[in-house]
Amino acid sequence: MRNRFHIAWLLVVLVACQSEPKGRPDAYYLKTGDSLSAAAFQTIRGALQTAIADSGVDKAIRFCQLNALALTHQLNTDFIKIERLTERYRNSQNQLTDESKAIWDTYKTKLAAGDSLQPVVVRTANQVDYYKPILLQPMCLTCHGQPNSNIPASLVATIDSLYPNDLAKGFSVGELRGLWQIRFQLP
Ligand code: HEC
Repeated sequence: MRNRFHIAWLLVVLVACQSEPKGRPDAYYLKTGDSLSAAAFQTIRGALQTAIADSGVDKAIRFCQLNALALTHQLNTDFIKIERLTERYRNSQNQLTDESKAIWDTYKTKLAAGDSLQPVVVRTANQVDYYKPILLQPMCLTCHGQPNSNIPASLVATIDSLYPNDLAKGFSVGELRGLWQIRFQLP
């Protein structure tokens, strides 16, 4: 009788543990992801604007090549990893992964249907991924818009010399340019 009682409790505890997802509720990751992606964006945009103001857009491209990844990763910790991923990349280190490709496709479909794109949280056993779409803004056209109209010819030449396999030109305002991926490692 006592043994049965214990077994019943053990089952209750096991079921409770399984139904409780690891980590915190989605709302926590959405909020933290929003803050971190906003902070990382401001860091990159601020540094870029300073570089353009100080030495012109041509030098700013070189600045990006040297610093963009380090600035993206600046807020990383042992448990949080921030990436900017995309399909048509300039730097091949920012290529979509298998997991992020699924999110990318969903965002593309929604955008084509005229829906608004919201951040999402994807949970796996040991990590929680936050994704947020990056849409192209007017200020991005100088380096990611149409060659020879938005991007001056001399700048096209600089970009192509620094990134011979560049895929990140020819975008229009409002297009899906990339994704923030913020990966929270669970204990
Ligand atoms: C001065 C030129 C310049 C401007 C302006 C600029 N970018 Fe970029 N962008 C770059 C360069 C250069 C890279 C590659 C950086 C590297 O090597 O890591 C890049 C990389 C990226 C990436 C990472 C994916 C990839 O293709 O490697 C994203 C996303 C991105 N830019 C979005 C934007 C958005 C959105 C804006 C406007 C808010 C913008 N960029 C404005 C030059 C620019």
